[in-house]
Amino acid sequence: MHTRNMAEKDAGVVAKLCTELGYPASEDQIRWRFRALTGVEDHKLLVVQDDGGNVMGWLHAHVPRLLQTDAVAEIQGLVVDETHRGGGFGRLLMTEAELWAKEKRCNEVSLRSSVARQDAHRFYEGMGCQIRTTSHDFRKSLEGHAPGNATTSWTAQLRHRGDRQV
Ligand SMILES: CC(C)(COP(=O)(O)OP(=O)(O)OC[C@H]1O[C@@H](n2cnc3c(N)ncnc32)[C@H](O)[C@@H]1OP(=O)(O)O)[C@@H](O)C(=O)NCCC(=O)NCCS
Repeated sequence: MHTRNMAEKDAGVVAKLCTELGYPASEDQIRWRFRALTGVEDHKLLVVQDDGGNVMGWLHAHVPRLLQTDAVAEIQGLVVDETHRGGGFGRLLMTEAELWAKEKRCNEVSLRSSVARQDAHRFYEGMGCQIRTTSHDFRKSLEGHAPGNATTSWTAQLRHRGDRQV
């Protein structure tokens, strides 16, 4: 097995894996998102292939530049084909992401994971990650509201932060 940078031709399999992750997406949607992200500094899109050249998983890492902390690499998405889990593909993707993070001068890798993903938590713990904090994910819908409309509200949604995370 080996990793390589994601390419536009991977959109179909990446979309299928995205759906397995719990974020249904069409091949076209992935293609557009890929085009928006590829080549953008501080984003890394990787796939892992088996020895036959089949894509078995993908990972998206990002280094947001913040005022309040030094650079930390965040894993934004990670999934391995559900019929091939436990075969080392996830570990290889994480290892490559860590190497990239070091190149970006990050001292840490972080990720947020839904409290429901117990299996993934065991994987992350095995990769040396530890839970540091638990937080809420505040959202505000911007649909159906004109800018400046006084009826917009922050009260609509309060979800656990992990609900929208990898
Ligand atoms: C989490 C995930 C990416 C791990 O990928 P994977 O290819 O199955 O993991 P690996 O085979 O590389 O496992 C690496 C190590 O973690 C361990 N591990 C993996 N899944 C585990 C589990 N459910 N429980 C305990 N240990 C686990 C493996 O035993 C292995 O340890 P070893 O190297 O000492 O043998 C994959 O299971 C997945 O896609 N899950 C569904 C989507 C998901 O939850 N993504 C993360 C969202 S936050």
